[in-house]
Amino acid sequence: MSLMSHPAAGWSIRRAKQPDRGAVEDVFVRSLREMAWRRSQTDELIRFRQTILAAEVFVAEEAVAGIIGFVSLEGLTAYVPHLFVDENWRLCGVGRGLLDVARDQVGQPLKLDVDRQNALAINAYSAMGWTVPATAGRRPGDQIRLVSP
Ligand SMILES: CC(C)(COP(=O)(O)OP(=O)(O)OC[C@H]1O[C@@H](n2cnc3c(N)ncnc32)[C@H](O)[C@@H]1OP(=O)(O)O)[C@@H](O)C(=O)NCCC(=O)NCCS
Repeated sequence: MSLMSHPAAGWSIRRAKQPDRGAVEDVFVRSLREMAWRRSQTDELIRFRQTILAAEVFVAEEAVAGIIGFVSLEGLTAYVPHLFVDENWRLCGVGRGLLDVARDQVGQPLKLDVDRQNALAINAYSAMGWTVPATAGRRPGDQIRLVSP
């Protein structure tokens, strides 16, 4: 069942299914290559697989390209461990759409931690109205805590 669609751009968002797992990992691994500051790809993939097991996952899909982005969500805490959009599909509203779907699921503002070095993502969150909460202390691993509107 589609939770959101963008007919003009051709993508829609739905809950992930088991067979999506490989495509979701592919989006993650391709994006990881842009994050030179992160640890080895193997370590990151192990951590990714552990974290995503405990989360709900929503995918953005386009008929020809397949899975073009995903968000993972820890529903009880409204925490977003992952938000990744394929490089070829950025700036098309996919990231915003995935976050809107996640926020609808929990019915409260979302939170996440972003790497201090990740200027691209910080700019995107800022454009979407995310802010540093007043209560945010220093995050482990040099990350910044952000909360959604
Ligand atoms: C961050 C990311 C998820 C954004 O996804 P996206 O699909 O490109 O975002 P959208 O197209 O929905 O854009 C949402 C808003 O952010 C803005 N935005 C997106 N990327 C931006 C950038 N690099 N610089 C400035 N603004 C940006 C858009 O203009 C838009 O604002 P608007 O609605 O006012 O025009 C995507 O760049 C990505 O996957 N990056 C690599 C992985 C990553 O860093 N994930 C975050 C980990 S915490």
